[in-house]
Amino acid sequence: MISKYNTQEKKILHFSVNACLTPVCMLHGAAVTTVEGIGSTRTSIHPVQERIAKAHGSQCGFCTPGMVMSMYTLLRNNPAPSTAQLQQCLAGNLCRCTGYRPIVDAFRTFCTASTCCQRRGPEESCHRGKAEQDGIMAESKDSDQDMCSQLFKTDDLLPLDETQELIFPPELMLMEERREERTLVFRGERMMWIIPANLEELLELKSQYPKAPLLVGNTNIGPNMKFKGAFYPVIIHPANVSELHSVQFTEEGLRLGAACSLGHVKNILEKATAEITSEKTEIFRALVGQLCVLGGEQIRNMASLGGNIVSGAPTSDLNPILAASKCVLELASKGGRREIHLDENFFVGFAKTSLRPEELLLSVFIPYSRKWQFVLAFRQAPRRQNAFSTVNAGMQVVFKDETNVITDLRMFFGGVGPTTVFAKRCSKELTNRSWDENLLRQTCELLLDDISLPDSAPGGSVQFRRTLTISFFYKFYLQVWQRLQQLLGKEDPFGANIPERLCSATIPFSIELPRGFQSFQKVFSDQFSGDGVGQPVMHLSAIKHATGEAVYCDDIPRQDGELVLALVTSTQAHAKIVSIDASKALQLPGVFDIITTQDIPGKNIGMDEILCESEVTCVGHIICGIVADNQRHAKMAAAAVKISYEDLEPLILTLEDAIQHKSFYAHFKLGNGNVDAAFEKADQQVEGQIHIGGQEHFYMETHSILVVPKNEDREVEVVCSTQDPNFTQSLVAETLGIPYNRVTVRVKRIGGSFGGKVRKASRIAAIAAVAAHKTGRSVRCILERGEDMLISGGRHPTLGRYKVGYMSDGRIIAVEVSCYTNGGNELDYSLTVMQQILSMLDSGYHIPHVCLNGFVCKTNLPSNTAFRAFGQPQAIAITESWITDVATKCGLSAEKVREMNLYRGEEACTPYKQIFDSRNQLNCWNECLQMASYHNRKISVEEFNKLNCWKKRGISIVPLRKSVGFSESIFNQAGALLHVYEDGSVLLTHGGIELGQGLHTKILQIASHELKIPRSAIHLSETSTEKVPNTTPTAASFGTDLNGMAVKDACQSLLQRLQPFMDENPKGTWNDWVKEALNNKVSLSTTGFFKGEDVSIDWEKGEGTIASYFVFGAACSEVEIDCLTGDHKNIRTDIVIDAGQSINPAVDIGQIEGAFTQGLGLFTMEELKYSPKGVLYTRGPTQYKIPAVCDIPEQLNVSLLPRSQNPKAIYSSKGISEAAVLAGCSVLYAIKDAIAAAREEIGLTGNFTLNSPSTPERIRMACIDQFTEMVPDCVPESIPWAIVV
Ligand SMILES: Cc1cc2nc3c(=O)[nH]c(=O)nc-3n(C[C@H](O)[C@H](O)[C@H](O)COP(=O)(O)OP(=O)(O)OC[C@H]3O[C@@H](n4cnc5c(N)ncnc54)[C@H](O)[C@@H]3O)c2cc1C
Ligand code: FES
Repeated sequence: MISKYNTQEKKILHFSVNACLTPVCMLHGAAVTTVEGIGSTRTSIHPVQERIAKAHGSQCGFCTPGMVMSMYTLLRNNPAPSTAQLQQCLAGNLCRCTGYRPIVDAFRTFCTASTCCQRRGPEESCHRGKAEQDGIMAESKDSDQDMCSQLFKTDDLLPLDETQELIFPPELMLMEERREERTLVFRGERMMWIIPANLEELLELKSQYPKAPLLVGNTNIGPNMKFKGAFYPVIIHPANVSELHSVQFTEEGLRLGAACSLGHVKNILEKATAEITSEKTEIFRALVGQLCVLGGEQIRNMASLGGNIVSGAPTSDLNPILAASKCVLELASKGGRREIHLDENFFVGFAKTSLRPEELLLSVFIPYSRKWQFVLAFRQAPRRQNAFSTVNAGMQVVFKDETNVITDLRMFFGGVGPTTVFAKRCSKELTNRSWDENLLRQTCELLLDDISLPDSAPGGSVQFRRTLTISFFYKFYLQVWQRLQQLLGKEDPFGANIPERLCSATIPFSIELPRGFQSFQKVFSDQFSGDGVGQPVMHLSAIKHATGEAVYCDDIPRQDGELVLALVTSTQAHAKIVSIDASKALQLPGVFDIITTQDIPGKNIGMDEILCESEVTCVGHIICGIVADNQRHAKMAAAAVKISYEDLEPLILTLEDAIQHKSFYAHFKLGNGNVDAAFEKADQQVEGQIHIGGQEHFYMETHSILVVPKNEDREVEVVCSTQDPNFTQSLVAETLGIPYNRVTVRVKRIGGSFGGKVRKASRIAAIAAVAAHKTGRSVRCILERGEDMLISGGRHPTLGRYKVGYMSDGRIIAVEVSCYTNGGNELDYSLTVMQQILSMLDSGYHIPHVCLNGFVCKTNLPSNTAFRAFGQPQAIAITESWITDVATKCGLSAEKVREMNLYRGEEACTPYKQIFDSRNQLNCWNECLQMASYHNRKISVEEFNKLNCWKKRGISIVPLRKSVGFSESIFNQAGALLHVYEDGSVLLTHGGIELGQGLHTKILQIASHELKIPRSAIHLSETSTEKVPNTTPTAASFGTDLNGMAVKDACQSLLQRLQPFMDENPKGTWNDWVKEALNNKVSLSTTGFFKGEDVSIDWEKGEGTIASYFVFGAACSEVEIDCLTGDHKNIRTDIVIDAGQSINPAVDIGQIEGAFTQGLGLFTMEELKYSPKGVLYTRGPTQYKIPAVCDIPEQLNVSLLPRSQNPKAIYSSKGISEAAVLAGCSVLYAIKDAIAAAREEIGLTGNFTLNSPSTPERIRMACIDQFTEMVPDCVPESIPWAIVV
């Protein structure tokens, strides 16, 4: 948070900002408050920190300080905010773990109009109260005495006390008040930063340094410097030029200083629209609409109006409106001032305007509108908030008074070319025309002429973008029609009211904060007091996450002489390395050395090559590394390494390429029954296919490694964000050619991983270890987001082609599926992922005859790897595709076909002959139907769809079944180590890693339960190969199952040793027994071990056991789509999961919500884009969108199935960390249901393919209508900008 004293208003203003976009020179005169400053465990914690922790709003904790500071800033500005303000406040913060609901619940307790009964005391939770108010729970197990819905208590929460807040430093206030007009200059190694004293000096500087940018908010310059290599020796920062910050209302309109921040502009315009007659504020309202969703609050707090205009970005959301409504720009230079219209002549090329080099934009004049003038703005983006528009538009029409005759029509579009584009012909040809029925088609045709995009235009999605331009116009057309009707009354040229069914096109989606209820089973009454098992215990590190005290790898202080490693990666997808020239790089300042394959003392091979030897097989293939004294120097040198290549053939990128070249790592088969005979017997057959795109892990903490060589006995210590310290240890040792016992791998906690830190982290650790070995110094390697995304791969893109034989009543009797996964250039976990896909392709359904083929494709993409739920989300998406197709063919509802084909009974049998008890599958299904009021809501959805032509709703319920644990038996083992000290305190270590999933919290609950001592007496420090060796990866939802049992074993061994002393002194305390044991020379260090079940499938025979048990569930989602833009809104999701007897319902529900949100991202919005040469375009949060708070269903209800037992895991619990990723699939099929309703409007009733993710583009293009039909297809020979891999 930045605080500044405003001398004019005599007020202290607080802003949340992005630290990475805030150069230190910008902070002159500002107070900076960080999360560490507002509270700490050593002093006292702030209520914001306390509430996010206690409400379970922190999992891995990496995003938590950001969340805390956003909320803290909101409260400093407004101690009793509204929920709308809370929504805005969180829009710019991302969390990959929680699914946002608990964060929102935590912070909602500060809101004024909160209906949150968290305030009412411990008996009721707000979720329950709200849910009851809404009648959500009417049909659920409301009165079930065994169930509970309170995840945190509010009666003991710290109150917010404004008087206790940090004060603004008085010396800064004085400094500001006594500020003289003085130029400030900051000089750095290569740059000079000048803050001019006044306008005159600014203009002088601009003439002296015409190439120097005017840095205001740095939201454009900053990313250009960081990502595009822009460099400016001189920067001018006009913070003290009052003319640039002035706000002036005149007779004609509003004049805004160009340096006004967008947040400030939004506030001014909002106030004006509330106070000034609506006729005059058409333009203001259109601007406010865009400003509400432009960036997040942190961006709007910094970004300036002038910067947005002058940046000339083709996706600017403001320029189209400002241009359409003829706003005036006041320009100034040393030579004088001039005024120009912001119009089609202002933008002269990509990021170029007609401003002269020595000129600057002084102010922007926004005129008042008048009667008979209508201004509207539109935008469609990959995410509703905090995402650049795919296409946007500003449209203005002016009519001759009292008529529908157009005197001026101006339409500007963004996202359809290198600049904001003016629809010139439209404007010319439609002037003097009437706004009537005949106008629509002609305008669309003219628009398509005006807005022409070549088939291979940068950004791709050419047809979608063109369709959007005319769809936006249609929305404009209808809204203007509505407004004309209101104004003209009887004279209305249309002669009739706009049909109700069309009105849905004119109503934008609102963004609501998510809410919902969570229910779980109460714990047994026979627990000893203090026993936390079954209780919603807060994450062990939650408070430390919230105060910023939790230590991650990169928080470890710099070591003496430490070097930083930057990786050099291939720019070609398939090529021979001809030469590596590092001569220039090695001469750069701070550079220490280059690390190549020649430096590897041991083996350059683990599972795959550590450093590429001679042939690169993907863009991002790691070739060598540079070590330097700091990150900047290392990066600059890495970029200066020249590698020449010789391209090799073939280049295989897509699944289609791989199929064509038969480029497969492996082919697996599973089958059951007699498929051919069953197809003969089936009444009908259907064929289809679905492609499921890949997914980036997007853990908040990127790959992070610190290697410290001990320089004695070749020992090395590796601190690494790895899920698999054992593998990291072995790979480092093999690469260095030393025994495993010389390598210690330590992990305290990880800022999220989701499968992405099993294999890849170890390879980077091995390279860093080679660098440490060569230089004899500590080496740190922290990947930047872009390179992490480029190098590390993700979820396997998958293609499923299927043929299904079914009876006319919906019974499916035969299924044949061929599945292809894009494994990338190395094997990694691709074989196991395919095995998981095949083994779960039956999902929740019993199909008597199946034939499943799985092909793991070898391509020239970075190798894909483990990802939460390990192929099973792809499997369910394929299965539900053929289920939906059968239902459509049979004329039955999808849920009927699902229900009749569900596994049933105690002895259900999978295609590979694993017998399992499937009864909870049906129980979850029935519970979910009831909890979601499915049947009633389906009727409501149908009614809604009858009444609305351009908005459609869809609802879908799907069964979930997820295998738990490793299918390789060797992984099903775990160890633990327990020390009891003289004072009775216990130090516990186990082989699992705390990834944010609450493993350590559950382990602590288990140890406390076993030893019958309070959790506070037990400490978990870190995971280390030194303490517990030969660990297995923390993955497959199996962490608690394995390590919990090992810890239980260690505790029981210890108790056995204490037993004699307990028997001797039954009334004694824990400390008494411990002392007695020590007096009697009894060792109080024990190890624990767990040998898990042997599971495996014999792939030759196609028989075996994939997992020791399954998690069952069901998820029901309802969505609404905007058929004209492809936007969709998640209305409600209900999830029922069979978590057995939950050890910690807060952690489990958190995992379910978080996993569901990740599934929602996978199936609806996260889209990786590759160039036809195999270059990943989507390398950061700007291009790759994970769900934000605006994407969560407005209502998200989670229930843990009551009375479920699981004899196969500790305390009858189940590992549920991954299962709910599959629940995201319910949203995909709800969207498909809605699209089907849209297609019905034009008589299209058959099956259609909806690939995943169902992005706005896919939704829009599937809703075929008169507008999609007007846009021609791309020519087949054209090379698209991006390819589907
Ligand atoms: C994460 C993120 C999300 C965003 N989302 C959106 C979005 O959804 N929609 C959207 O429209 N934009 C979006 N933006 C872009 C943002 O609005 C612009 O970057 C911002 O308005 C630029 O203003 P600034 O003050 O930060 O400019 P700076 O970065 O400081 O400067 C940008 C350029 O403008 C020039 N300049 C600035 N002021 C003047 C002036 N008065 N006279 C002459 N030249 C000047 C500078 O010389 C420089 O060349 C986003 C940006 C980020 C980083
Ligand atoms: S808790 Fe939010 S990213 Fe992990």
